[in-house]
Parts: sequence; C-alpha cells; structure tokens
Amino acid sequence: MSVTWSAKDLKNTNQPAATGLKRSRNDVGNKATVVLGAQWGDEGKGKVVDLLATEADVVCRCQGGNNAGHTVVVEGKEYDFHLLPSGIINTKSISLIGNGVVIHLPGLFEEGDKNDKKGLKGWEKRLIVSDRAHIVFDFHQVVDGLQETERQAQEGKNIGTTKKGIGPAYSSKASRTGLRVCDLLGDFKDFSTKFKNLVHQYQSMYPALTVDVEDQLKKLKEYAERLRPMVRDGVYYMYEALHGSPKKILVEGANAALLDIDFGTYPFVTSSNCTVGGACTGLGIPPLNIGDVFGVAKAYTTRVGIGAFPTEQLNAVGELLQTRGHEVGVTTGRKRRCGWLDLVIVRYAHMINGFTAIALTKLDILDVLDEIKVGVAYKLNGKRIPHFPANMDVLQKVEVEYETFPGWKTDTSAARKWNDLPAKAQNYIRFIENHIGVPIKWVGVGKSRECMIQMF
Ligand code: GDP
Ligand code: IMO
Ligand code: MG
Repeated sequence: MSVTWSAKDLKNTNQPAATGLKRSRNDVGNKATVVLGAQWGDEGKGKVVDLLATEADVVCRCQGGNNAGHTVVVEGKEYDFHLLPSGIINTKSISLIGNGVVIHLPGLFEEGDKNDKKGLKGWEKRLIVSDRAHIVFDFHQVVDGLQETERQAQEGKNIGTTKKGIGPAYSSKASRTGLRVCDLLGDFKDFSTKFKNLVHQYQSMYPALTVDVEDQLKKLKEYAERLRPMVRDGVYYMYEALHGSPKKILVEGANAALLDIDFGTYPFVTSSNCTVGGACTGLGIPPLNIGDVFGVAKAYTTRVGIGAFPTEQLNAVGELLQTRGHEVGVTTGRKRRCGWLDLVIVRYAHMINGFTAIALTKLDILDVLDEIKVGVAYKLNGKRIPHFPANMDVLQKVEVEYETFPGWKTDTSAARKWNDLPAKAQNYIRFIENHIGVPIKWVGVGKSRECMIQMF
C-alpha cells in the first residue's frame, strides 16, 4: 500500500519544540490528518485509520469512549478497539487518548489485556493518556441503564445507548462535578471525597442506585497505579508533536457526524462532538494544525439504536445488506438497521467537516444487487428542501428522492485498482463523488487491510 501522507502535512521548518510560543501563521507546524465518520457510525473508520497508521508517528482518539467499536483485520486476525486508538497495532507509533475522551478504566485494561492475548504485545508502553480526560465510573454505566428505563417508561421509547455510561459521564463533565485522570493521580484522599460527593449527587437523582463506595475506591486506587506511567499533560505532548521534528499525526474520530451532540439527529445522538471541531477541543490542536479531513462513508447506510432513518429499507434489501454486510454492532452485538446510501446526510456531514477526500467502504456488499438506489434529496410537501432538518418529527416525514443504478452483479472483492472494477461500479462511485463534491480517495472491497483501492 503506497504512502498516503502528502508533503504539505509535514512541517517545513525544523525548530525545536517549545522554544517560545510566538509563531507566525506561516510557521504552523505539523498538520494532523483527521478521519471521521460521515454517517451514523460503523462506516469502517478503524480500517481507514489502520491503513494510515502504518505510516503514522502518533495516532489519537479525541472524543467518545468505549461506545465506539472499531474493527481492524490484519493478516487474518480481527481486532476490535473501543478505547484504544486503532493505531495501537503499529508498534512504531504512539497512541494518545486525548482530553475529550471519557475513559472507563476497567474497560480500558480489559480491552488491552484481551488484545495482549491476541498477540498485541507492549501496548501499555505505546499508550499515552491525557491527564485532562474525564473518568467514566461504573455507576455512570448503571445510571445510563436507569435513564434508558426511565425514557422508555416516560416517553415510550429510549435512545438505544450502548450503556457504556457515555451520556452520564459527559453530563458530569458539563456540570463540573466530573473527575479527571489528574484528580485520580493526585491526592487520593481529595479524590475519594469528590468521588463520594459525585455518588451522592447521583443517588439523590436515582434513589435505586447502590454503590459500594469503598470497594470502588479500592479498585480505582489499583487502576491509578497501573495508569500512572501512561499519563502526560496532553496539551503539551501535542504541542511538542506539532512543533518538533516532522511528524505524521493521525486523529481517529469515534461515532459519527449524525451522532454528534450538536449536529446529529438529536436527541438520538451520542454526547460528544464527533465532527471536526472535536479534534481541536479533544486534543488541544489549533484549527490551523488540521490538515486533511477524511470522511468515511459506507456504500449504503446503517444505524444502530433508535431515531429517524429516511433511506431505511425494512424489506428484503435491508435484510440482504444486514446479512451480507455482517451488520452487527461491535460494542453491543445489536443488529444494525440498513438502507440505501443517503447522500443528503453525507453532504450535510461535508458541510460541517469540510472533507478533503472520502473513503467509500463496503462496495463489495452491493455486488449481488440487480439495482441500487441512492437517496439524493429530501422533499417536504412535494418540495425539495436544501438543508438537513433539525427537528426529528420533520425528518421522520421527509420523502426521499432516489437515483437508481443498475447493479454490476460481479464479485469486486479481488479488485485492487480502479480498472479492476466493473464499469457499472465505477459509474456508481463517480456519481457519489460528483454529488458530494469531494474526491473519493479509497474504495473498500473487503474487511482486510489490502482490500482497499487507492484512487490517487
Ligand atoms: P467503525 O466503527 O467505523 O470503525 O466500523 P466498524 O468496525 O464498527 O464496522 C465496520 C465493519 O465493516 C467491520 O466489520 C469491518 O471489518 C468491515 N469493513 C470495513 N470496510 C469494509 C469493506 O470495504 N468491505 C467489507 N466487506 N467489510 C468492511
Ligand atoms: P463507532 O465509533 C454506531 C449510537 C448508539 C445510540 C447512540 C447513543 O463504532 O462508529 P451512547 O452509548 O453513545 O450514549 O449511544 O449512539 N452510537 C453508535 N452507533 N457506532 C458507534 O461508534 C456509536 N457510538 C454511539 O447506538 O444509538
Ligand atoms: Mg463501530
């Protein structure tokens, strides 16, 4: 696989790090390449990151927690990553969990130990954790479940969260009662008091919540010592990475644009910014240090959990995409809902993220279809609307306008270059590219690393 980093992503001056903070706009430093989901998640971000990570020096997670599930298949071995950046596979790069991530410590160590057994040795030495990252406690996960039960009872529907405590942990952060890695590694007596106060706060909201505080603190103290060697000031680490010697820095987005707390299909979203701004706030990277922004989109659409899904196919097509695409959640094991590619949402994701190129994944799943549809516009009361509706009741009502393409009915899984693809598949790809107005740089035709056609 050829190198996908361009010279413009590397800084052209070679000043030592932190030699004074005065810098001109021409001396920006290294640029971070960002990989983001352009739909409702599970687009194949892990695979795209893995591809780029083989060349990267630093691979960072900037938001979300272990609600994410990123699959990487290398040499026949399948890895699933939840909190660890997918770049942890690359023994030559450093993985960084940034301040915008919420970390469930038992989850992190379980994930690491599981991968260690699979042969991923030395991950603890390659991982850096920001001291500003917030902690997800076990009770946040219990509260996540209680909130879902409450939503179901009050509104007749829940969100379908992963129950990993993401919403409650970000709520603690926003209400300024959350606890961070730096608190855990500081004075443990102070930490214990703050922890007890936080538990008390949640118990007053949820009287059914029981927490064995002493047992939790004992475990947290053990985790603190295991975590301590990995913890750094994340902002300073990134500053040095951006302004030291030329470095390839990669940011792995979790979740996706339509799950973004501000721009997604609210309230059926996650609790972080999964769009490009999250890379800046979740790592302390200035906007000028953002280089390429790669959007990842499947050649069709899937969604896990509840919420409007205009191109969903509750029929044989949806079932075929689900079974052929093995569309089952990596984190929760739930079946993913499936439908035609919706270019209205990918264009909307592009409006927010300003993609410099797209990775179109899972083209091979469409190989057996007689005809393929693509959603190109939404209509309300018979009239096309130019924007993506904020209100979910409105989104439920839109009528999708489709373009129909003949299927190529050919196995594409062995294709490794553009010319190996059937003309009808090429036509489908070119249509998508023109409609979004962003070049397609990669086309995925299988799970493993080599099953990716690089277009330029
Ligand atoms: P992520 O959350 O965006 O990293 O994606 P997931 O790992 O949750 O889901 C993507 C699934 O599709 C995984 O099982 C990948 O192995 C698989 N996958 C990724 N790209 C391709 C592709 O081009 N073709 C096929 N058949 N599978 C793919
Ligand atoms: P990756 O990174 C797909 C969905 C959940 C639920 C909603 C809120 O693998 O693409 P949360 O637990 O975050 O409060 O759940 O968001 N969701 C995802 N769906 N892929 C993901 O991550 C997701 N992360 C959250 O299913 O509907
Ligand atoms: Mg996933």
